Amino acid sequence: MDYSMTKRIFVTRQISPKAVTMLKKRCNVIMWESEDQPVPRNELLKRIVGCDGLYCLLTDNIDVEVIDAAGPNLKIISTMSAGFDHIDIVTCKQRNITVGFTPDVLTATAELTVALLLMVSRRTVEGVNIVKSGGWGSWKPIWMCGSSLSDSTVGIVGLGRIGLAVARRLKPFGVKRFLYNNQNPKSEADIICAEFVSFDKLLRESDFVVICCPLTPDTKEMFSRHAFEKMKSSAILINTSRGGIIQHDDLYQALKTGQIKAAGLDVTTPEPLPSDHQLLSLTNCVVLPHIGSATEDSRDLMAVLAAENLLAGLEDLPMPHEVNIGVE
Ligand code: DGY
Repeated sequence: MDYSMTKRIFVTRQISPKAVTMLKKRCNVIMWESEDQPVPRNELLKRIVGCDGLYCLLTDNIDVEVIDAAGPNLKIISTMSAGFDHIDIVTCKQRNITVGFTPDVLTATAELTVALLLMVSRRTVEGVNIVKSGGWGSWKPIWMCGSSLSDSTVGIVGLGRIGLAVARRLKPFGVKRFLYNNQNPKSEADIICAEFVSFDKLLRESDFVVICCPLTPDTKEMFSRHAFEKMKSSAILINTSRGGIIQHDDLYQALKTGQIKAAGLDVTTPEPLPSDHQLLSLTNCVVLPHIGSATEDSRDLMAVLAAENLLAGLEDLPMPHEVNIGVE
């Protein structure tokens, strides 16, 4: 008998058929597939009981209640996401639960970050809306002017894999300087000749501020009123990481009063952002529905990577991508 077939796992959503096949070959799979919506909390708490592994998404709040409900068999949690702020990592560490994630899927998110930056800096959404509403008059010399990347200073908050991938894609636009802020300098920064600076210096000197860091207790709401006060009034803020890094009421005030020029958000708090949210009333704020990694290739790859992590973990093999919970 294949030992791993005795392992029971819960998959919280319909995922790519390739990943499902991989899992079903080796495990007893319970899957929430009745609708393409997050599994309701009560169903999650019921279905996880006795499971050895959990395959989850960033929309699932995997807290101590879920881990308790699973019981002592739960040894592996694998999330189909680069971010893992939805998982109680401290409890996982205390209970020797190994956590896997999908950090290497960066092309799609980096592309979307560049796209969003250009959409905002060149005011494309405003432009499209003006065309649709009949506001397009004759060509005017000073109308719908945006900001150029050429000769600009771009500040990357969190120069990890995605931050670096974003910077490499922005470089050919003629960016003059890259600044970055991390806990420590990164040798990879040399690839794009980026300068390690304090958060305050980055805020003061950047024309574009791009948030690429994970959401942690340290980065939660690091963009609040105090940060906006330090930014240039011409600055553009882009966030494709996690909504919780920005204090959204403060961002609204900063955009409304012209303290900063514009913002592009692919992530918000909450998600989904209610359609009557104050940020959506602003022409200088573009909000996308968390589609950073949403290309077919990327989502397939993430689904397979998360399955590989889960299967390796269940067989006591090193996971291809394990969250280093020792440092949390
Ligand atoms: C992730 O993988 O964490 C991304 O936010 C998904 O787009």
